[in-house]
Amino acid sequence: MNQFTKISQSHINQFTELIGKENVFFKPEQLKEFGHDETEDLVFPPEVALTPRNTEQVSQIMKYCFAENLPVTPMGSQTGLSGGALSVHGGVGLSMKKMNAIVELDEKNQQIIVEPGLITEELQNAAIEKGLFYAPDPSSKGSCSIGGNLAENAGGPRAVKYGVTKDWVLNLEVVLPNGEIIWTGSNTLKNSTGYNLTQLMVGSEGTLGIITKAVIKLIPYVPNNVSMLAQFPSSTKACEAVSAIFRAGITPSALEFMERDALDWIMKFDDSVSIKIDDSTQAHLLIEIDGTNMDIIYQECEKVAEVLEQFECGEILLADNEAQKDEIWRMRRRIGEAVKSNSIYKEEDTVVPRYELPTLLSGVKEIGNKFGFKSVCYGHAGDGNLHINIIKGELTDKQWNEELPVAIREIFELTVSLGGTLSGEHGIGYVQKNYMDIAFSKVELGLLKSIKNVFDPTGIMNPGKLFV
Ligand code: LAC
Ligand code: ZN
Repeated sequence: MNQFTKISQSHINQFTELIGKENVFFKPEQLKEFGHDETEDLVFPPEVALTPRNTEQVSQIMKYCFAENLPVTPMGSQTGLSGGALSVHGGVGLSMKKMNAIVELDEKNQQIIVEPGLITEELQNAAIEKGLFYAPDPSSKGSCSIGGNLAENAGGPRAVKYGVTKDWVLNLEVVLPNGEIIWTGSNTLKNSTGYNLTQLMVGSEGTLGIITKAVIKLIPYVPNNVSMLAQFPSSTKACEAVSAIFRAGITPSALEFMERDALDWIMKFDDSVSIKIDDSTQAHLLIEIDGTNMDIIYQECEKVAEVLEQFECGEILLADNEAQKDEIWRMRRRIGEAVKSNSIYKEEDTVVPRYELPTLLSGVKEIGNKFGFKSVCYGHAGDGNLHINIIKGELTDKQWNEELPVAIREIFELTVSLGGTLSGEHGIGYVQKNYMDIAFSKVELGLLKSIKNVFDPTGIMNPGKLFV
C-alpha cells in the first residue's frame, strides 16, 4: 500500500490559500463532524476537511494533493451505509456540501444540471415545481445528496418501476485525481459514442474521481398514487407474493417487504407511527401503485389484492389520503434509524433476482440459527433487494468480531449462488470490501483494479475502499 504523506501545517496553509480559511477545517472537534457517515458507529476523521465552492477549486485541490501524495476522501452529506465517506487513511476529507446549487433546469429538454451537494429531495421538489419528476428516492432523501447517490448508485423504493440513480444520469463533470476536469458523455438521451464513462463513474464510490456537476434527465410528473399495506402470517408467503404481482402484469411504483420486528421497532422508535398489527402477522408488504388515472390505479390495486390473497394475505390497509400515506411511508423510511437506535448491528444490502427472494430470506434465517444471531430484514422486495440487519444482541465481542464475518461470507455466498450480488444500492465501500472475491473472479477483480489504476495511478482517490 502506498505510503501517503501526512498533513502538515504547510499543506493547511496551501489549502487556505486556495479556497479561503472559512473552507478549511483542522481542529479536532471540527474534524469529528467530517469523520462519520451513517455506517454502524464507525468514525475515521480526516486530518483536514475542505469545503470547496466550485469545480476550479476542486481541480486546484486535487492537483496539489496529487503532487503531494495526500489521500483524498470525497464526501457528500455523510449518510452512506457502506463507509464510503470515511477517511480511513486520514488525509483530506473533501466535502462537497457547499457545492449544492441547481445550475440550470432546462424545461425544454426536461433536464436539470446540478452540483453534487444538492439534497436529493430539493432536486425532486425543483422538478415538481415545473411539473417534472425525478423518481429515485432513497429513504434518506431529505438528507442525502445527489453526489452521494451518484457515487453509490443509490436506489430507494421507486427504483422498482423507475430505476436507480444510474438510469437518470446523462452526463457528468468530473475532476480526476490529477486535477484535470472532464465531461464523461453528452446531454443526450442516447449515446453510442465510445466507452460509457458516465456509467463507469456512477457507483464508483469516489474511487475514480470527484463528480462536480451532473446532468440528470426528468420525466413528466406522475400525479397520483395509492399505497397498500398487506399483512402476512408468514414471511416466506409475503416474499413469494412479490414476483407473482409482476407476473400478473402489474409494475408497482414501490414494493417493499418488512418483517414484523421492523414494524414493532419503528413503532417503539417513532411515537407518531401507530399501525394496528394482528398478533399472527409475521411480515408486511407495502405496495404503491401510481399513474395519472385514479380509476386505473384502483383497478390495479384490486388485481394486486387478488394476487395477495393467493399467498395467505390477511388484512390490507388501503392508504389513499395524504395523511395515511405519510404515516405508512414515514414508518417504512425510518426503519433503518429505528434498527440503529435499538442495538449494535451490521447491515448487508443483498440483492437477488426477485423470484429468489424467499430462498434468500429462509437461507439467511438458517445461517442466523447456525451462528446464533438474530436478523431484522426489510427492503425493496420488488427489486429482490433485502436489507439484512444483523443484531448484536447477546453475542459476545468474540462472536461478533470473529464468527460473524464467517456467517456474512455464507450469506453472500448464498446470495451469489442465487444469481445475486453483494450490494443493490448501498455500495461496497469500507465494510464490504473483504467479500468482493465472492462476487468477482480473479480475472474480473483484476479488470476492476486495472480501471482504478488508469484513473488513479498513485492511489490517492478514496483509498481503502472497494478493494482489500
Ligand atoms: C432503506 C435504506 C436503508 O431502504 O436503504 O431504508
Ligand atoms: Zn434501501
